[in-house]
Amino acid sequence: MQNTQDPKIIRESVKEYYGGIAFTANPSSSSGCNCSTNNNSCCQSDAALTITIGANNYESKDSKQLHPEVTGLSLGCGDPVTLASLKPGQTVLDLGSGGGMDCFLAAARVGITGKVIGIDMTTEMITKARLNKSRLDIVNVEFCQGEIEHLPLVNNSIDVIISNCVINLSSNKPTVFHEAFRVLSPGGLLAVSDIVITGILPENIKRDIDAWSSCLAGALEVSELHMLLKTEGFVEIAITRIGANINPEGSLIDHKGFETIPFPEISSSYQIFSAKITALKPYTA
Ligand SMILES: C[S@@+](CC[C@H](N)C(=O)[O-])C[C@H]1O[C@@H](n2cnc3c(N)ncnc32)[C@H](O)[C@@H]1O
Repeated sequence: MQNTQDPKIIRESVKEYYGGIAFTANPSSSSGCNCSTNNNSCCQSDAALTITIGANNYESKDSKQLHPEVTGLSLGCGDPVTLASLKPGQTVLDLGSGGGMDCFLAAARVGITGKVIGIDMTTEMITKARLNKSRLDIVNVEFCQGEIEHLPLVNNSIDVIISNCVINLSSNKPTVFHEAFRVLSPGGLLAVSDIVITGILPENIKRDIDAWSSCLAGALEVSELHMLLKTEGFVEIAITRIGANINPEGSLIDHKGFETIPFPEISSSYQIFSAKITALKPYTA
């Protein structure tokens, strides 16, 4: 286990991890990216078996019409597009767009008078997303390589920000929320699906570089998440649990399956689950 809290090392490690997934993405896994069947996701642990990762999170029939290459590279933990209740003509930003599935779903909702921008820092993900875009022949989506901590966008230019299982991976979350607030128009909506925790993660998990890529080590505590959004100026903040808790029979196996942390150590200190998160930038900001 590599032990670190260095933001640079975390970022490079996350990049390498998701670059590897994009590179080896196998569309045959499109029938579902549930943790129990798909190792190529941010959910790598037996302990998180009850958190559904990937295309299984989507209710809408438009998700089922997407190409298997797209749904097979879906690594999210919720459905931020449905959460955002998008309207025709809106400009949408997807933080950590991966293979692009949420961008394509959002593009259908905002229509040709609207626009969707996907940002991802990983070269291989951006390449896949652009390939998927040309395969689907969608015109109102663009993908930009960049970091969600430094958005290449002007102030007040976005109606809705979505994100699916990404913010937990950032080692600088206050900056992510600062940037989100900056680029949102007054009255704009932040609609996010992410892994969160209640309680306190054991130090050994927090410091485990592989646990970052697995969406564990960087998961925000619910009250801290609320505080960060409020501090930035967001209002009407709602954080709602959507996933079940970790499997009570489970044990946490690290990223490569080499180490098992017995359940009592996990259960006594924290709970981990997926949540839907919404917040508004006030009109007066
Ligand atoms: C778990 S995947 C989710 C991808 C996509 N949202 C989905 O639902 O399939 C995380 C993605 O976030 C990207 N990512 C992680 N940290 C990032 C950051 N700081 N800036 C930009 N992209 C980031 C990774 O490259 C990866 O594509």
